[in-house]
Amino acid sequence: MMNDHAIDVGDDVVSDDVMRHDDVPDELMSVVTSLTSPRRYVPQWYVYDTRGSELCEQLIQKSETYKLWRHEYSILQTYADDIAGKVSSPAVLVDLGSGGSSKTRLVIEAMLKRHGRLTFVPVDMAKEFILTCGRQLETDYPGLTVEPYGGLYMDGVRHVAARKEPKLLLFLGSSFSNVSIHDQVQMLQDIRAQLNERDRLVLGMDMNTDREALSQAYGEQWAPIWRDNLISRFNKDFNGNMDAEKFEYRCEFVENPPSGDTPSYVVKSLTSSEKQRVRFEKIGLDIDFEDGEKIYFYEGPNTSCKWNLRQLRRLAEKSGFAVDEHWTNDVENYCVICLAPANIIHASFPRSE
Ligand SMILES: C[S@@+](CC[C@H](N)C(=O)[O-])C[C@H]1O[C@@H](n2cnc3c(N)ncnc32)[C@H](O)[C@@H]1O
Repeated sequence: MMNDHAIDVGDDVVSDDVMRHDDVPDELMSVVTSLTSPRRYVPQWYVYDTRGSELCEQLIQKSETYKLWRHEYSILQTYADDIAGKVSSPAVLVDLGSGGSSKTRLVIEAMLKRHGRLTFVPVDMAKEFILTCGRQLETDYPGLTVEPYGGLYMDGVRHVAARKEPKLLLFLGSSFSNVSIHDQVQMLQDIRAQLNERDRLVLGMDMNTDREALSQAYGEQWAPIWRDNLISRFNKDFNGNMDAEKFEYRCEFVENPPSGDTPSYVVKSLTSSEKQRVRFEKIGLDIDFEDGEKIYFYEGPNTSCKWNLRQLRRLAEKSGFAVDEHWTNDVENYCVICLAPANIIHASFPRSE
């Protein structure tokens, strides 16, 4: 009944002109699909447009309670040279979900020192933002060539897969932990399948499970980004009338046994504070929210997984990687872990637990 851009809008109301959206790119239509699915959610990449990315950079570097940026920065400050030494020269550095690459600068500096020249491929859906950041990096570092890739993580990995040089892939800022826990092993297996033995994957993983600290870290300070900016993006992209005042940003912590393979995680959502109808004029769609109905953050049940070292080792094993080396901060609540492709991929492990 529908054309190529058909969307499943569940019980929400679609007026006759809903198909008049040829000027809306497919990637944005996927956001409509997720927002109107039985479990309403926002895809991870959609939260960070240029404004969202700028606000995020400011918050993560300055916040007194969200300390991941500082923890990861301090580990990279101490060990960037060891990380740079994981691949031979001439190398390509790939930054998955690069954002402002503020911590990646430490690895860039170490690799330039070691290798002289470097090609840097930031991969991020915030396309305009990484173009601007890339130009700044080239100005700041003679010898650096930046080749930004505006797209999804896995498209970026496939984009660089055929390159002859050894590749160092970074997945910093705990971003991998926002991937659905049901898809994490599969995603790492997919990355593994694109790598050669000389390549390495370095992930930044949070290990903090202090409930009080997490409720402060992921609390109200994020509302300007994860509610106000997000809703203003909805309204801009779809000519919508969504009112940020009628949605409450909430987070909670789900703790899993440390002896199991499933990490603990944070659940983030926007909760409708009343029964309401939101109109996306551009695509002729009305979305009905019940009082208390939630829009979840991201594709899976989790955001921001909290790991322990045993769980990280298991994750690597299941995905066809071996832990090459890992580095933690003094208080051991953040880990940067370097994975090397293992010879055998254990494809028989289940995708979810
Ligand atoms: C939490 S920020 C991390 C930024 C930076 N790596 C850091 O450590 O400070 C996550 C970044 O990943 C990008 N992103 C989220 N989901 C993505 C996806 N599926 N594909 C590509 N980029 C994505 C966002 O646009 C954002 O810039």
